[in-house]
Amino acid sequence: MAKTQKRYVCQACGSVASRWQGQCADCSEWNTLLEDAGGAVTPFRAKHDLQSGGRSVELVALDAEVELPARMPSGIAEFDRALGGGFVEGSATLIGGDPGIGKSTLLLQAAARMALAGQSVAYISGEEAADQVRLRARRLGLGTAPVMLAAATSTRDILTTLSQGKPPVMLVIDSIQTMHSDLIEGAPGTVSQVRASAQELIRFAKQRGTAVVLVGHVTKDGSIAGPRVLEHMVDTVLAFEGERSHQYRILRAVKNRFGGTDEIGVFAMQAEGLAEVANPSALFLTQRDEGVTGTTVFPALEGTRPVLVEIQALVVRLASGATPRRAVVGWDSGRLAMILAVLEARCGLSFSSCEVYLNVAGGYRVQDPAADLAVAAALVSALSERPVPIDAVAFGEVALSGEVRPVAHGALRLKEAGKLGFERALVPAAVASEKSALRLAGFRTLAQFVDHMMGRG
Ligand code: TYD
Ligand code: MG
Repeated sequence: MAKTQKRYVCQACGSVASRWQGQCADCSEWNTLLEDAGGAVTPFRAKHDLQSGGRSVELVALDAEVELPARMPSGIAEFDRALGGGFVEGSATLIGGDPGIGKSTLLLQAAARMALAGQSVAYISGEEAADQVRLRARRLGLGTAPVMLAAATSTRDILTTLSQGKPPVMLVIDSIQTMHSDLIEGAPGTVSQVRASAQELIRFAKQRGTAVVLVGHVTKDGSIAGPRVLEHMVDTVLAFEGERSHQYRILRAVKNRFGGTDEIGVFAMQAEGLAEVANPSALFLTQRDEGVTGTTVFPALEGTRPVLVEIQALVVRLASGATPRRAVVGWDSGRLAMILAVLEARCGLSFSSCEVYLNVAGGYRVQDPAADLAVAAALVSALSERPVPIDAVAFGEVALSGEVRPVAHGALRLKEAGKLGFERALVPAAVASEKSALRLAGFRTLAQFVDHMMGRG
């Protein structure tokens, strides 16, 4: 007879240990190891293989007819864009973001718009009293929207209430960290409570066809508080980002089982709530003056959406032999070091005795690799004290060899720049053959580009 081997599974990270320990050796969470009965081998199981005794499941062809899931627009176009066309019936969506970024505001606005459009929407607040939510709705001009509102934290109470009568089309839970399931022990916000509460709410969503939206707080290191498993349990994960000191907010899909993850929604936080920003380029371009050195405009792409941002560089020569600083805001510092190295090694420029500062205006964060050439333009302009023409944009990827590589969606970037009044573009040679209303200057190598910037050749 097979010996029964006990095993313990960490409820936070899933790692398996043969002995119980107070702290998981892998993820360092406390009190997450639980005995797992699944590993035990019974005499009956040992005698029978797994090829009989179960039910047959139906196997179907991959190309069988499917019905696309029904989408419910949130009434906020930028929100729908990030979701890939609206909420999906019976799906679970997690919205993560720093405290105070505007998650509650956004969801209250969406809930109110949907309710005003005749949908039944429930908003459960575990953080604020019902009166607080009501006052906020009034301030947002949505005080009369027929949203079903409750302040509650027990998932059993919430699900009991919602199971009476027709379930709502959308259910907002603000936030999952305040929810409590009485099926397991522990205070709200603990790993196991967050997981159990989410599981119960998601099961309700799937059974009753309600679209449930969970608000999740983000920890200091940027992950959604509670276990990472929360991200696996839901269908869609949205991140609500932005600098609190700046007005704009970006809603980004991180995971989407029903659509792409490359679309963003852009909002501006105003006195009367979150306003949609249909044309983000105008938002990120600061007031620009002719003759200023060290700045360029980069037509970035967010999904299929171009966003023009200003890239600023400052180069300060140091007299002494002190180690020069490099500081970056809004871009990858490793990438800056790489561009500086290529400018030194392939173009004969020297930054070794200079401090270098790089900033993306408006608090925007550039992730697009096509920013290389724009960054190089800002750096060369700052070093040489020659301004980049004010009516020019720049984009292109720079390789370690010094080559300027073409990037995706050149035409789209040029079109957006044209729309905002730019007349010239500094681009990879391969893009220069595109038909465009802009005058294009194409470059095969970064050295050619530097020569052009310095007025040589
Ligand atoms: P909130 O939605 O409560 O953030 P979260 O739920 O993500 O913690 O937003 C809070 C911030 O938004 C608060 O600091 C004030 C600001 N705000 C406005 O500027 N205008 C408004 O109309 C509202 C409702 C909030
Ligand atoms: Mg909130």
